Amino acid sequence: MSGFIRLCNDGWTQGWHERNGGNATYRMKPEEVDSCRPFFIEGGDWIALDVEMENLAGEYFITTGTGKHFNNVILEPEISLGITEINEKGNAYRIVWGLNNGKDRPTSEFPTHLLNHSIKKAANPEYRMIYHAHPIHLIALTFVLPLESKAFTKALWKTMTECPIIFPHGIAVLPWMVPGGVEIAKATSALVGEFDAVVWAHHGIFCMGTNFDTTFGLMHTIEKSAAIYMDILHTGKPILQTISDEQLLQLEEPYNVKLNRDFID
Ligand code: 13P
Ligand code: ZN
Repeated sequence: MSGFIRLCNDGWTQGWHERNGGNATYRMKPEEVDSCRPFFIEGGDWIALDVEMENLAGEYFITTGTGKHFNNVILEPEISLGITEINEKGNAYRIVWGLNNGKDRPTSEFPTHLLNHSIKKAANPEYRMIYHAHPIHLIALTFVLPLESKAFTKALWKTMTECPIIFPHGIAVLPWMVPGGVEIAKATSALVGEFDAVVWAHHGIFCMGTNFDTTFGLMHTIEKSAAIYMDILHTGKPILQTISDEQLLQLEEPYNVKLNRDFID
């Protein structure tokens, strides 16, 4: 729980969470659930999900609450955050801790988070963290780059040398959609089998990982590269040199990564 709180507060200090912007969920390990069990409230109502995810049956998730401000998480985690249990069919949840004694609700993006958790868990059970934020420079980029995975991946890879090492598979991009519903959840989940980061145009980004550090670090790296890219544009000067595709490929052997060939010309 302290790691989750720290992630929320780190995101707040980065400026990624105006008002209630952004949300996060973490699939707990059985031993973590056991250590929290003495604090659980009994008898919460089951609330139906519009999606059914059999492989999440019986899982417990830490989640941010809908409408909760990230800067309050560190001050009142039992109001801003909650722990939810998924039923044995994987189509309903109940609150077992926090969220204002169960009176409030998980993030409006809960369906998107759970669908993505289901796909990530099936592909690799080590994946536990999903984090959505509104990073400033990345959102700005969605106005000036084509809304294509290749355009975003290459722009970011070539702006900062660490990027191809940290996200060798690249990042995916979705056009603008209404947030909070099943449609955007399904569009995002169609991409997360392949990608750990999905940009929502004019809105923000979803990052996924095995723990708090890798997930936050992925978001931080993407946003920093976007910030450098925007700084370059602001100079108004012509770009005289960049990292070539050939140079990108030179990173593979020393850093033991395989770059997504869809994005190499
Ligand atoms: P919630 O407050 O419901 O988590 O919504 C914030 C958000 O960023 C929606 O995309
Ligand atoms: Zn959002």
